[in-house]
Amino acid sequence: MHQSTFALSLFVGAVVAFQCSSFNTTVSVSAPSYQPAFAPFANHYQSVALLNVVTARDASTGASPFKGAINVVETFSISAEYCTPTANQHPAHLDVQILTHGLGFDKSYWKFGGDSSQYNYVRAATDAGYATLSYDRISNGGSTVVDPYTIQQAPMQLAVLEVITSRFRNGTIHSSVPKPSGKVFHVGYSYGSILSHALVASNPSLSDGIVLTGYSTNTTWVGEFLISTNFHLAKENEPQRFGNRSTGFVTWADELANQYIFFSHPHFDPAVLAYAETHTYPFSVSEVLTGGVVPYNAANFTKPVLMISGDADLIFCGSDCHGILEQAAPLFPAAKPFETYVQPDTGHGMNLHYNASGTYAVILDFLKRNT
Ligand SMILES: *[C@@H]1O[C@H](CO)[C@@H](O)[C@H](O)[C@H]1NC(C)=O
Ligand SMILES: *[C@@H]1O[C@H](CO)[C@@H](O)[C@H](O)[C@H]1NC(C)=O
Ligand SMILES: *[C@@H]1O[C@H](CO)[C@@H](O)[C@H](O)[C@H]1NC(C)=O
Ligand SMILES: *[C@@H]1O[C@H](CO)[C@@H](O)[C@H](O)[C@H]1NC(C)=O
Ligand SMILES: *[C@@H]1O[C@H](CO)[C@@H](O)[C@H](O)[C@H]1NC(C)=O
Ligand SMILES: *[C@@H]1O[C@H](CO)[C@@H](O)[C@H](O)[C@H]1NC(C)=O
Repeated sequence: MHQSTFALSLFVGAVVAFQCSSFNTTVSVSAPSYQPAFAPFANHYQSVALLNVVTARDASTGASPFKGAINVVETFSISAEYCTPTANQHPAHLDVQILTHGLGFDKSYWKFGGDSSQYNYVRAATDAGYATLSYDRISNGGSTVVDPYTIQQAPMQLAVLEVITSRFRNGTIHSSVPKPSGKVFHVGYSYGSILSHALVASNPSLSDGIVLTGYSTNTTWVGEFLISTNFHLAKENEPQRFGNRSTGFVTWADELANQYIFFSHPHFDPAVLAYAETHTYPFSVSEVLTGGVVPYNAANFTKPVLMISGDADLIFCGSDCHGILEQAAPLFPAAKPFETYVQPDTGHGMNLHYNASGTYAVILDFLKRNT
């Protein structure tokens, strides 16, 4: 667990009233693997050239970057953490939130800045009486690093979330984690919202309600995100941390690009941006290019749905979320209720803005009202 100087200096003395256990679990999944029509990058000239192709004016009518899918069976080690309110270790009834992080982070996104940080969603959720189960998506944090071209794709990660949820529900995820005694909600952030949305579209009985943060279903502005990253090879951008990684793992250049993608000035602490930039994880070209192949029609999901994004979210709203989130309503026709919320003074990185606690209050109030 990273300690952060900014959090320690600003929030010394805050009472921590939750406790967590970390574990690794072996997950076997069967899922489609889309076969790239492009060769693995030999160098960054080739990654930038693919970026030209996928963001071109005629990209939507041009040749697909993938040839088609084959089914593969894969086994991964997934690093996870289960947290409960300290005062509530063995309650008769404990509702749980399964947390799925987005691109550029690992599961520490949900405890950003450490235990007593104001940017710590796990702390807010446990204070509100929930348990949380967070995990590192494949190739992030302590989970298995996989082939970024053929395996690090959306359907594979959806399959991981399905297996984690099923095993959590039936009490077999790990000996240290009890079978849930209450509701099982899913909270996603960004790419994790894509996966949480796809989960209830493909398998609606697995979730009792979802909160999709840093997200919309309007992909008009995803190209601005892709272009702003320039598909820097992670192994060249951060050789100390990722020098070993395949060329299929890419990232943005620096703190300025990070701000452009994730932050709304002046509503954040520059120390938070600096910390975030030194702790990034790369993403795979194939995971961003397969985001559209998982199911989105959640017609059979009858449980609560909240979509909440920052008013200035770049990727999912073109930096203005007003009028965008509700465009997803037709994909959740049976959800009870379906609500949207635009969080003021906030960019895409919802947990990283001064008013993160305001975001948490909206999410937790929604879940309390709909439990
Ligand atoms: C999980 O596995 C990683 C990599 O093998 C290891 O470094 C870490 O200590 C393990 N964590 C736990 C809680 O066992
Ligand atoms: C729990 O769920 C997993 C994943 O669906 C399944 O493989 C396993 O057989 C289940 N175990 C029990 C005891 O129900
Ligand atoms: C995305 O939102 C814009 C602005 O409201 C709208 O013009 C466009 O039709 C939307 N696109 C999709 C695919 O919904
Ligand atoms: C780099 O890869 C080699 C061979 O796979 C491995 O032994 C080594 O531990 C890796 N180093 C880092 C820093 O991950
Ligand atoms: C909803 O459930 C019905 C009955 O099982 C099924 O036929 C239909 O395909 C499902 N719709 C979606 C969008 O999954
Ligand atoms: C923080 O966010 C909450 C929830 O959206 C909002 O009600 C509140 O006005 C915000 N606070 C500030 C200072 O903007």
